[in-house]
Amino acid sequence: MSEEDLYMVYRGVVVPKAVHTPESLQYAEEFNVREGDVFVSTYPKSGTTWMQEILTLIMSGGDFTPVLTLPNWDRVPWLEEHRTKELQMNERPSPRTLSTHLHYHMMPKSFYNSKAKVIYVLRNPKDVYTSSYYYYQMATYLVDPGTPDEFLMKFLDGKVMFGSWFDHVKGWLSAKEQVLYISYEEMIADLKGSVSKVCTFLDKPLSEEVMEKIADHCTFKNMKQNKMSNYSLVPKEFMDQTKSNFLRKGISGDWKNLVTVAQAELFDSVYKEKMKGIEYKFYWDE
Ligand code: A3P
Repeated sequence: MSEEDLYMVYRGVVVPKAVHTPESLQYAEEFNVREGDVFVSTYPKSGTTWMQEILTLIMSGGDFTPVLTLPNWDRVPWLEEHRTKELQMNERPSPRTLSTHLHYHMMPKSFYNSKAKVIYVLRNPKDVYTSSYYYYQMATYLVDPGTPDEFLMKFLDGKVMFGSWFDHVKGWLSAKEQVLYISYEEMIADLKGSVSKVCTFLDKPLSEEVMEKIADHCTFKNMKQNKMSNYSLVPKEFMDQTKSNFLRKGISGDWKNLVTVAQAELFDSVYKEKMKGIEYKFYWDE
Protein backbone atom coordinates (compact mmCIF):
# COMPACT_ATOMS: atom_id res chain seq x y z
CA MET A 1 0.00 0.00 0.00
CA SER A 2 1.07 3.58 -0.61
CA GLU A 3 2.29 6.19 1.84
CA GLU A 4 -1.03 8.00 1.46
CA ASP A 5 -2.98 4.90 2.48
CA LEU A 6 -0.79 4.04 5.45
CA TYR A 7 0.52 7.31 6.86
CA MET A 8 -0.66 10.69 8.03
CA VAL A 9 1.34 13.71 9.07
CA TYR A 10 0.86 14.95 12.61
CA ARG A 11 2.60 18.20 13.60
CA GLY A 12 5.12 17.68 10.81
CA VAL A 13 5.88 14.07 11.69
CA VAL A 14 4.81 10.91 9.82
CA VAL A 15 2.72 8.49 11.90
CA PRO A 16 1.10 5.22 10.80
CA LYS A 17 -2.69 5.43 10.58
CA ALA A 18 -3.22 1.86 11.79
CA VAL A 19 -1.82 2.70 15.21
CA HIS A 20 -2.57 6.40 15.62
CA THR A 21 -5.78 8.26 14.92
CA PRO A 22 -6.54 11.97 15.18
CA GLU A 23 -8.47 11.10 18.38
CA SER A 24 -5.58 9.14 19.92
CA LEU A 25 -3.16 11.96 19.16
CA GLN A 26 -5.54 14.45 20.72
CA TYR A 27 -5.88 12.14 23.73
CA ALA A 28 -2.07 12.23 24.09
CA GLU A 29 -1.99 16.01 23.86
CA GLU A 30 -4.60 16.34 26.59
CA PHE A 31 -3.31 13.51 28.77
CA ASN A 32 -3.12 14.41 32.44
CA VAL A 33 0.46 13.70 33.50
CA ARG A 34 0.82 13.04 37.22
CA GLU A 35 3.71 13.19 39.64
CA GLY A 36 5.12 9.66 39.77
CA ASP A 37 4.46 8.84 36.12
CA VAL A 38 7.39 7.18 34.40
CA PHE A 39 7.77 7.34 30.62
CA VAL A 40 9.94 5.19 28.39
CA SER A 41 10.67 7.50 25.49
CA THR A 42 12.40 6.34 22.32
CA TYR A 43 12.75 6.79 18.63
CA PRO A 44 11.29 3.51 17.22
CA LYS A 45 13.67 0.50 17.18
CA SER A 46 15.96 1.88 19.87
CA GLY A 47 15.16 -0.67 22.58
CA THR A 48 11.67 0.35 23.76
CA THR A 49 10.46 -3.19 24.42
CA TRP A 50 13.63 -3.98 26.32
CA MET A 51 13.28 -0.98 28.62
CA GLN A 52 9.55 -1.67 29.07
CA GLU A 53 10.51 -5.09 30.47
CA ILE A 54 13.23 -3.70 32.76
CA LEU A 55 11.00 -0.89 34.00
CA THR A 56 8.08 -3.22 34.75
CA LEU A 57 10.32 -5.51 36.77
CA ILE A 58 11.87 -2.66 38.72
CA MET A 59 8.46 -1.16 39.53
CA SER A 60 7.17 -4.55 40.68
CA GLY A 61 10.21 -4.96 42.92
CA GLY A 62 11.28 -8.04 40.97
CA ASP A 63 7.86 -9.74 40.92
CA PHE A 64 7.67 -11.50 37.56
CA THR A 65 3.86 -11.70 37.43
CA PRO A 66 3.24 -8.58 35.30
CA VAL A 67 5.87 -9.36 32.65
CA LEU A 68 4.62 -12.92 32.37
CA THR A 69 0.90 -12.21 32.32
CA LEU A 70 0.38 -8.82 30.64
CA PRO A 71 1.45 -7.82 27.13
CA ASN A 72 3.95 -4.98 27.08
CA TRP A 73 1.39 -2.62 25.47
CA ASP A 74 -0.90 -3.02 28.48
CA ARG A 75 1.64 -2.68 31.24
CA VAL A 76 3.63 0.21 29.66
CA PRO A 77 1.09 1.52 27.10
CA TRP A 78 1.96 3.94 24.35
CA LEU A 79 0.51 7.32 25.19
CA GLU A 80 -0.32 8.09 21.54
CA GLU A 81 -1.76 4.74 20.41
CA HIS A 82 -5.42 4.28 19.62
CA ARG A 83 -6.04 1.47 22.14
CA THR A 84 -4.64 3.41 25.11
CA LYS A 85 -7.86 5.36 25.60
CA GLU A 86 -9.63 2.12 26.47
CA LEU A 87 -7.13 1.33 29.19
CA GLN A 88 -8.63 3.95 31.53
CA MET A 89 -5.27 5.36 32.46
CA ASN A 90 -6.93 7.92 34.74
CA GLU A 91 -8.14 5.07 36.93
CA ARG A 92 -4.71 3.48 37.25
CA PRO A 93 -3.01 4.11 40.56
CA SER A 94 0.33 5.91 40.66
CA PRO A 95 3.04 5.25 39.81
CA ARG A 96 1.92 4.65 36.21
CA THR A 97 4.28 3.53 33.47
CA LEU A 98 3.88 4.68 29.87
CA SER A 99 5.79 4.57 26.61
CA THR A 100 6.03 7.17 23.90
CA HIS A 101 7.64 7.74 20.53
CA LEU A 102 6.52 11.38 20.51
CA HIS A 103 9.12 14.05 19.96
CA TYR A 104 9.78 16.19 23.02
CA HIS A 105 7.80 19.14 21.66
CA MET A 106 4.77 16.87 21.05
CA MET A 107 4.35 15.73 24.66
CA PRO A 108 1.10 16.46 26.57
CA LYS A 109 0.77 20.04 27.76
CA SER A 110 0.66 18.79 31.35
CA PHE A 111 4.03 17.07 30.94
CA TYR A 112 6.16 20.19 30.77
CA ASN A 113 7.48 21.20 34.17
CA SER A 114 5.76 18.15 35.68
CA LYS A 115 7.46 15.86 38.17
CA ALA A 116 7.16 12.87 35.82
CA LYS A 117 10.33 10.93 35.05
CA VAL A 118 11.50 9.89 31.60
CA ILE A 119 13.89 7.14 30.58
CA TYR A 120 15.13 8.07 27.13
CA VAL A 121 16.79 5.15 25.33
CA LEU A 122 19.25 6.08 22.60
CA ARG A 123 20.73 3.72 20.02
CA ASN A 124 23.38 4.07 17.33
CA PRO A 125 21.34 5.47 14.42
CA LYS A 126 22.96 3.08 11.95
CA ASP A 127 21.60 0.19 14.01
CA VAL A 128 18.23 1.96 14.31
CA TYR A 129 18.17 2.24 10.53
CA THR A 130 19.12 -1.45 10.16
CA SER A 131 16.56 -2.67 12.69
CA SER A 132 13.93 -0.46 11.02
CA TYR A 133 14.80 -1.81 7.58
CA TYR A 134 13.83 -5.35 8.63
CA TYR A 135 10.89 -4.19 10.74
CA TYR A 136 9.37 -2.26 7.81
CA GLN A 137 9.47 -5.48 5.79
CA MET A 138 7.48 -7.46 8.34
CA ALA A 139 5.11 -4.81 9.71
CA THR A 140 2.29 -4.56 7.19
CA TYR A 141 1.07 -1.24 8.60
CA LEU A 142 4.28 0.38 7.31
CA VAL A 143 5.30 1.15 3.74
CA ASP A 144 7.64 -1.48 2.29
CA PRO A 145 11.18 -0.12 2.69
CA GLY A 146 12.27 -0.87 -0.89
CA THR A 147 16.00 -1.25 -1.38
CA PRO A 148 18.44 -0.37 1.42
CA ASP A 149 19.50 2.65 -0.65
CA GLU A 150 15.91 3.86 -0.98
CA PHE A 151 15.17 3.31 2.68
CA LEU A 152 18.39 5.03 3.74
CA MET A 153 17.39 8.20 1.89
CA LYS A 154 13.99 8.16 3.58
CA PHE A 155 15.53 7.50 6.99
CA LEU A 156 18.09 10.30 6.70
CA ASP A 157 15.35 12.62 5.44
CA GLY A 158 12.99 11.75 8.28
CA LYS A 159 10.34 10.42 5.86
CA VAL A 160 9.67 7.44 8.13
CA MET A 161 7.44 6.85 11.14
CA PHE A 162 8.08 9.41 13.85
CA GLY A 163 10.16 11.49 11.50
CA SER A 164 13.82 12.31 11.82
CA TRP A 165 15.99 10.37 14.26
CA PHE A 166 18.20 13.47 14.51
CA ASP A 167 15.32 15.78 15.49
CA HIS A 168 13.93 13.22 17.95
CA VAL A 169 17.25 12.87 19.76
CA LYS A 170 18.06 16.58 19.71
CA GLY A 171 14.62 17.47 21.03
CA TRP A 172 14.80 15.04 23.92
CA LEU A 173 18.35 16.09 24.77
CA SER A 174 16.98 19.58 25.35
CA ALA A 175 14.33 18.39 27.84
CA LYS A 176 14.13 20.28 31.12
CA GLU A 177 12.28 17.57 33.03
CA GLN A 178 13.88 14.64 34.88
CA VAL A 179 15.33 12.47 32.13
CA LEU A 180 17.67 9.50 32.36
CA TYR A 181 19.57 9.10 29.09
CA ILE A 182 20.67 5.53 28.60
CA SER A 183 21.92 3.83 25.48
CA TYR A 184 21.13 0.46 23.98
CA GLU A 185 24.87 -0.12 23.65
CA GLU A 186 25.36 0.51 27.38
CA MET A 187 22.63 -2.03 28.11
CA ILE A 188 24.36 -4.57 25.86
CA ALA A 189 27.72 -3.93 27.55
CA ASP A 190 26.44 -4.09 31.14
CA LEU A 191 22.81 -5.09 31.64
CA LYS A 192 22.92 -5.41 35.42
CA GLY A 193 24.72 -2.07 35.69
CA SER A 194 22.00 -0.54 33.50
CA VAL A 195 19.24 -2.02 35.71
CA SER A 196 21.00 -0.52 38.70
CA LYS A 197 21.22 2.87 36.98
CA VAL A 198 17.47 2.85 36.31
CA CYS A 199 16.78 1.82 39.94
CA THR A 200 18.83 4.77 41.19
CA PHE A 201 17.05 7.19 38.84
CA LEU A 202 13.65 5.96 40.01
CA ASP A 203 14.58 5.87 43.69
CA LYS A 204 13.73 2.18 43.76
CA PRO A 205 16.61 0.43 45.47
CA LEU A 206 16.69 -3.35 44.90
CA SER A 207 19.04 -6.01 46.23
CA GLU A 208 21.94 -7.25 44.11
CA GLU A 209 20.18 -10.60 43.86
CA VAL A 210 16.94 -9.10 42.52
CA MET A 211 18.81 -6.91 40.02
CA GLU A 212 20.70 -9.99 38.89
CA LYS A 213 17.40 -11.84 38.33
CA ILE A 214 15.94 -8.91 36.39
CA ALA A 215 19.03 -8.69 34.18
CA ASP A 216 18.88 -12.42 33.55
CA HIS A 217 15.21 -12.32 32.54
CA CYS A 218 15.92 -9.35 30.25
CA THR A 219 18.64 -10.99 28.17
CA PHE A 220 17.75 -11.21 24.49
CA LYS A 221 17.55 -15.01 24.61
CA ASN A 222 15.12 -15.02 27.54
CA MET A 223 12.97 -12.13 26.38
CA LYS A 224 12.58 -13.76 22.97
CA GLN A 225 10.77 -16.61 24.76
CA ASN A 226 8.35 -14.32 26.59
CA LYS A 227 5.16 -14.15 24.56
CA MET A 228 4.08 -11.07 26.54
CA SER A 229 7.05 -9.18 25.05
CA ASN A 230 7.96 -10.82 21.74
CA TYR A 231 4.84 -9.64 19.87
CA SER A 232 3.80 -13.19 19.02
CA LEU A 233 0.30 -12.22 20.27
CA VAL A 234 0.00 -9.79 17.34
CA PRO A 235 -1.76 -11.34 14.31
CA LYS A 236 0.39 -12.23 11.31
CA GLU A 237 -1.66 -9.82 9.15
CA PHE A 238 -0.17 -6.98 11.17
CA MET A 239 3.32 -8.29 11.88
CA ASP A 240 4.60 -11.19 9.83
CA GLN A 241 7.34 -12.62 11.98
CA THR A 242 8.09 -15.32 9.41
CA LYS A 243 9.78 -12.49 7.48
CA SER A 244 11.72 -11.10 10.43
CA ASN A 245 11.30 -11.56 14.18
CA PHE A 246 10.42 -8.60 16.36
CA LEU A 247 13.28 -9.62 18.63
CA ARG A 248 15.49 -10.02 15.60
CA LYS A 249 19.21 -10.01 16.50
CA GLY A 250 19.59 -7.93 19.64
CA ILE A 251 23.17 -6.86 19.09
CA SER A 252 25.00 -3.61 18.50
CA GLY A 253 26.85 -3.12 15.21
CA ASP A 254 24.59 -5.22 12.98
CA TRP A 255 24.55 -2.25 10.59
CA LYS A 256 27.89 -3.53 9.31
CA ASN A 257 26.00 -6.43 7.70
CA LEU A 258 23.67 -4.13 5.78
CA VAL A 259 25.28 -0.75 5.24
CA THR A 260 27.88 -0.43 2.44
CA VAL A 261 31.00 1.71 2.73
CA ALA A 262 29.46 4.38 0.49
CA GLN A 263 26.20 4.38 2.48
CA ALA A 264 28.15 4.65 5.75
CA GLU A 265 30.05 7.65 4.39
CA LEU A 266 26.79 9.35 3.45
CA PHE A 267 25.33 8.50 6.86
CA ASP A 268 28.37 9.93 8.65
CA SER A 269 28.31 13.17 6.68
CA VAL A 270 24.59 13.72 7.38
CA TYR A 271 25.13 12.80 11.05
CA LYS A 272 28.01 15.26 11.35
CA GLU A 273 25.97 18.06 9.84
CA LYS A 274 22.76 17.41 11.79
CA MET A 275 24.43 16.80 15.15
CA LYS A 276 26.76 19.80 14.92
CA GLY A 277 27.00 21.64 18.21
CA ILE A 278 25.49 18.82 20.31
CA GLU A 279 27.68 18.36 23.36
CA TYR A 280 26.16 15.11 24.63
CA LYS A 281 28.72 12.29 24.49
CA PHE A 282 27.10 9.46 22.56
CA TYR A 283 28.23 5.96 23.47
CA TRP A 284 28.92 5.08 19.83
CA ASP A 285 31.09 8.16 19.22
CA GLU A 286 33.62 7.21 21.88
P1 A3P B 1 17.16 -5.61 16.26
O1 A3P B 1 16.16 -5.49 15.16
O2 A3P B 1 18.46 -4.93 15.93
O3 A3P B 1 17.36 -7.00 16.73
P2 A3P B 1 11.98 -1.44 19.84
O4 A3P B 1 11.49 -2.25 20.98
O5 A3P B 1 12.28 -0.02 20.19
O6 A3P B 1 11.10 -1.58 18.65
O7 A3P B 1 13.43 -2.02 19.42
C1 A3P B 1 13.55 -3.29 18.87
C2 A3P B 1 15.01 -3.66 18.86
O8 A3P B 1 15.43 -3.95 20.20
C3 A3P B 1 15.28 -4.94 18.05
O9 A3P B 1 16.60 -4.79 17.51
C4 A3P B 1 15.20 -5.99 19.14
O10 A3P B 1 15.80 -7.21 18.81
C5 A3P B 1 15.94 -5.27 20.25
N1 A3P B 1 15.71 -5.88 21.59
C6 A3P B 1 14.55 -6.12 22.20
N2 A3P B 1 14.75 -6.76 23.38
C7 A3P B 1 16.10 -6.92 23.51
C8 A3P B 1 16.96 -7.52 24.49
N3 A3P B 1 16.46 -8.10 25.57
N4 A3P B 1 18.29 -7.49 24.27
C9 A3P B 1 18.81 -6.91 23.18
N5 A3P B 1 18.06 -6.34 22.20
C10 A3P B 1 16.72 -6.34 22.36
